[in-house]
Amino acid sequence: MKDFKIIDTPIAGKVCVVVGTRPGIIKMSPIIKELEFRSSDFFVIHAGQHYSVNMDKVFFQDLRLPDPKYRLDETKNYTLHGEQTAVMLTGIEKILIEERPETVLVCGDANFNLAGALAARKLRLKLGHVEAGLRSYNWKMPEEHNRVIIDHISDYLFTTSQAASDTALGEGVRGEICNVGSTIVDALSGIKEIGEAKSTILHDLKLESNNYFLLTSHREENVDNKEYLEGLLGVIDTLGNEYGQPIVYPIHPRTMKRITQFDLRARIDSIKHLSLTEPLGYIDCMYLLANARLVLTDSGGLQQEACIFGVPCVTLRTETEWVETVEVGANIVAGTVPENIITSVKAALAMERNWQSPFGEIGAASRIIDIIYQGSYR
Ligand code: UD1
Ligand code: UDP
Repeated sequence: MKDFKIIDTPIAGKVCVVVGTRPGIIKMSPIIKELEFRSSDFFVIHAGQHYSVNMDKVFFQDLRLPDPKYRLDETKNYTLHGEQTAVMLTGIEKILIEERPETVLVCGDANFNLAGALAARKLRLKLGHVEAGLRSYNWKMPEEHNRVIIDHISDYLFTTSQAASDTALGEGVRGEICNVGSTIVDALSGIKEIGEAKSTILHDLKLESNNYFLLTSHREENVDNKEYLEGLLGVIDTLGNEYGQPIVYPIHPRTMKRITQFDLRARIDSIKHLSLTEPLGYIDCMYLLANARLVLTDSGGLQQEACIFGVPCVTLRTETEWVETVEVGANIVAGTVPENIITSVKAALAMERNWQSPFGEIGAASRIIDIIYQGSYR
């Protein structure tokens, strides 16, 4: 008799897609749509790491996704990495035992992915990691811990580039490495046209195309540090005055929380050229990005999207996982020192906007599903 639970008889062909944060929903959306299109046997678990309407439901609407079959509402009550991951792991495990999928897919490096991956591995289900093989080599980042662990316990490592495949191979992972391209390319397909038809964001914020900067910053290692936030607000002030252009900042809830906690509300309100907004839906955000003169960001997703749209990017971090965006001349990794950010903006504005996107053609989602169904390697 077994004293632990494994799933001896998974249902052949059944797929579980785990989402849980804003970028997770976006990057899994083409996979969910492809599974729907093929009338596959699948279900979605929303692990509940993001839950505010503008961090969650708006993406289901904008990307025309079905409601997830399961949503873990309890997760929002937990904020420490360990407890947040634990509550999602426990919730996902229970659902997997009930549903018995053959394959579980997670995407990226947020905590919900680690929870989904561990649940699947412990139950001996097949595990696929979408966006595998990426590394920042910054061992302080929770995302780096998550990526490394997930890659090493996955059966399929779906990478977005040969470089990521080489990294995974070099680390001696056990699973099959498949360079399928980026599902972001699929998610972006047609989004500019939808924005043109539907988005009123430029009008609402009184912006002219190619005459404003877009800014996002939410990374824990940045915004949990008061000095960084004060420096960033100073940078916005300087850039606004120097270039005379609005700087649009859709602010992440983590950052807003820290602004309040660090008593920086009056400071932020005093910045003349800053246009502060709530987090935006995908259609508005992509329309805003596509029309921006430049983006400053510490987001992983926006670095890729800017590169694909031909918008120069200044990355507010000391390293990036998306090295190909730097290699093609679309992105400058500025670090977090204010003077260096300002110098990098100047350099980014002078960049030729004629690079080729390194993220390949659409079809990553379809390739992922094909590989799962072939299931040939075992
Ligand atoms: C997480 C990911 C990060 C990713 C980001 C995407 C980890 C370790 N980090 O960071 O890699 O770039 O998501 O946006 O998984 N909050 C809300 N409403 C929400 C979500 C969050 O108010 O819908 C607030 C809460 O106060 C919460 C805080 O933001 O405690 C941080 O949220 P959390 O999901 O823990 O981390 P993120 O900073 O969003
Ligand atoms: N995004 C959005 N609205 C916003 C900010 C970001 O739709 O107000 C999108 C963005 O285009 C990208 C994804 O959310 O596709 C990235 O999320 P985030 O920056 O939170 O996380 P990261 O990619 O850094 O993990």
